Amino acid sequence: MAPPDSTTLSPTHWSRPHLSEALLEAVATLGLDLQSATPEAMAPLDQFHGGAHEATRALARHAGIQAGMRVLDVGGGFGGPARMLAVEYGAQVTVLDFTADYLHAGAMLTERMGLSQQVTFHHGNALDVPFPDGSFDVVWTQNSGMQIADKARLYRGYFRVLRAGGRLAQLEPVLGVGQPPYLPLMWANTPEQNQVVTAETLHAVIGAAGFVEYHWEPNIHFPDPPVRPVVTIQRLVMGEYLQTIQEARLRNEAEDRLRSVLGVFIRP
Ligand SMILES: C[S@@+](CC[C@H](N)C(=O)[O-])C[C@H]1O[C@@H](n2cnc3c(N)ncnc32)[C@H](O)[C@@H]1O
Repeated sequence: MAPPDSTTLSPTHWSRPHLSEALLEAVATLGLDLQSATPEAMAPLDQFHGGAHEATRALARHAGIQAGMRVLDVGGGFGGPARMLAVEYGAQVTVLDFTADYLHAGAMLTERMGLSQQVTFHHGNALDVPFPDGSFDVVWTQNSGMQIADKARLYRGYFRVLRAGGRLAQLEPVLGVGQPPYLPLMWANTPEQNQVVTAETLHAVIGAAGFVEYHWEPNIHFPDPPVRPVVTIQRLVMGEYLQTIQEARLRNEAEDRLRSVLGVFIRP
């Protein structure tokens, strides 16, 4: 398979044809039935970030997600984390993403899992969040800002759509000590596509948007599962190119060129 789009910072980087069909085949390959599958069982196929469901649960714990909370999942992809927040914590989740075929696949999985009342999907750009001021209790985002250069605008938008006292909950790759990261990354084939910053810079930008720190782990690690499933969402999206990406990822981890941060911030 050819490398993903290397010239644009756009949904075309992430988009792949026939993803819904490929996901349904993968569900069958894993022996799952969508009417009874738990979010945890589905995680290899719908949680598109390191640490899969365990990372999502850790963030939910720190963010204090509770029943009835209105959560906006920015860059929520296929909706795996959103369905986990709905089923395990009783949240009402709106997924916002700019990759149309992820939204279609996510809505299809949600409908078949009987969760359409709790999880909805909206097309839009994280830099221009299309919701009124103060409409959410939590803005949630996992591994979605890595290509976004204008982080000041990004976090100002998150601040705007949160109610007073609401929370920003975030898991995000950041730069480590060694520089620069080896390419390709899941989100970048060229240095220009990689807009990941250090944990310190990220913290400063979030603070400048008006947020107050509640919980901050600037170097958190979620181990790979002991047994890798035969099919994963990473494999479905990246195809054979995933091997090259994984090799770079292991080198970046070993040389501390990339890390992950977990942060929860309050909107005063
Ligand atoms: C690695 S996936 C993570 C998906 C999901 N958060 C998860 O953890 O399963 C990155 C997601 O961010 C979305 N994304 C990236 N930039 C975006 C933007 N500017 N606006 C909306 N979505 C964006 C992509 O479409 C993709 O679904």
